[in-house]
Order: sequence, then structure tokens, then C-alpha cells
Amino acid sequence: MKKSILVLASVTLIMTACSSNKTENTEATETPAVTETPAVTETPAATEAPATDGAITLSAGDDMKFDKTEIKVKEGSTVKLTLKHTGKLPKTAMGHNFVLLATGTDFNKFVTAALDASGTDHIPASFQKSVIAHTKTIGGGETTSVEFKAPAKGTYEYLCSFPGHSGMMKGKFIVE
Ligand code: CO
Repeated sequence: MKKSILVLASVTLIMTACSSNKTENTEATETPAVTETPAVTETPAATEAPATDGAITLSAGDDMKFDKTEIKVKEGSTVKLTLKHTGKLPKTAMGHNFVLLATGTDFNKFVTAALDASGTDHIPASFQKSVIAHTKTIGGGETTSVEFKAPAKGTYEYLCSFPGHSGMMKGKFIVE
């Protein structure tokens, strides 16, 4: 009787050992699957090659309009945005800038806060964290640029934050 109990016990032990081995094996087989993930991550790196895709020229004149109301860039690319003021009016009368807002920013609240931000180049200090990138404000005949890394995929809003301009001067910045 005692012997058979021992045998049973040892069989159980062996079975347990086997099943735990199997579990380890399964885990081991899963590991290469995980290793595949970096391979996928390499793909966007390859997409970074046409980095020139990130070169954008945005123009605006005395008519208070951006020539583009939609800009598309690739995720992770380096965006070099050049803002050209094709008008003649000085920046105190017809200032233009490019401001890219982070997701979740209240557009109207930002614009309202920007009304009082002439001292900080029309970027309200209380909203600095809501600004992904921006250029300085320029007047007629001037050009300026800003370079930044394209944020995560999604649709973002951009505007000119000079008082009274955002109603006309705004657009969608799409990261694909
Ligand atoms: Co403007």
C-alpha cells in the first residue's frame, strides 16, 4: 500500500515537472515572437528616409489667409516649416505666426489668452504646454522657420495667434 502511494506521488511529481517544463518551453517559443516587435519598429525608421517630406512652406499675406489649410506629415519625421509673409504691412498691424496646438487644447480659450500675450510674441505663457511648436511673429516681407519632430499620429490644429487672425488663419495639421 505504502509503495503504491509512493509511486503515485512520484508519478505526480514527474507529471508536474513535465508540465512545468512545457510551460517554460511555451514561454521560450513566445520570446522570438516578442523579438519581432523591434523589426516592426524598424519600419518607421525606414519611413524617415523621405525626411524632405517634412519641409513645408506656409505663406500668408496682407489678406490674412494661410495658403494652406491642411498640412500632412509623417509620424516621427522632422518637420521644417517655413513661414513666409508675402504682404507689406508691418507685424504690429498684420503679424503672422504659426502655432501648432497639442491635442485637447481648447482652441477658443487659447485664442482668448493670446489676446493678452503681445509681450510674449502672442504665445500665452499659461498655454506653453499646449504648444507643440511655433514660429516667431513676422511682418510683411519677412520669413521665419521652425524645426520640430512630428508628434504622434493624429489631427492637430494650427493657427496664427495674432489678435483677430485665427478666425481666418487656421488649419489642420495631420500626422500620418
Ligand atoms: Co496673422
